[in-house]
Amino acid sequence: MSLSGFSVVVLSVALVAFSASPLFSGESPSSPDLPPGPMQAKAITACTECHESRIIMQQRLNKQSWAKEVDKMIRWGAVVDANDHDALIDYLGTNFGPDRPDYETSRTSRKKTKKQ
Ligand code: HEC
Repeated sequence: MSLSGFSVVVLSVALVAFSASPLFSGESPSSPDLPPGPMQAKAITACTECHESRIIMQQRLNKQSWAKEVDKMIRWGAVVDANDHDALIDYLGTNFGPDRPDYETSRTSRKKTKKQ
């Protein structure tokens, strides 16, 4: 096999590997999808404009605290329609309330170590 033929093979293998990676499919591992619900689309639009979704998904807040959080984000520039305001807080409080288990990150290497 000529050298150039070999590089073509290497290149196509690399391309296949790359297109199978989450980066290529547009699914960023650090910004997982917000859960389905009536406010999912609006939350994605209003709340992942400045930061990834994970910062939201890691929270464990009751609805009162979510209300404060959302109002703070609005003060900081989040665009939330007044008609969606309460439903959005409901959606966040239902999905990311205090009784939820800890957020599990999608680690690729390091394993979570047991608390001693
Ligand atoms: C105008 C930009 C902007 C928008 C839009 C925005 N945020 Fe934020 N958000 C920030 C910034 C800046 C921080 C602070 C990031 C940091 O501390 O690293 C933050 C942090 C957070 C945090 C972490 C806790 C905290 O208060 O620092 C949560 C939860 C959060 N945002 C939720 C939301 C939600 C829910 C929405 C949609 C209603 C939203 N954000 C929309 C700018 C924004």
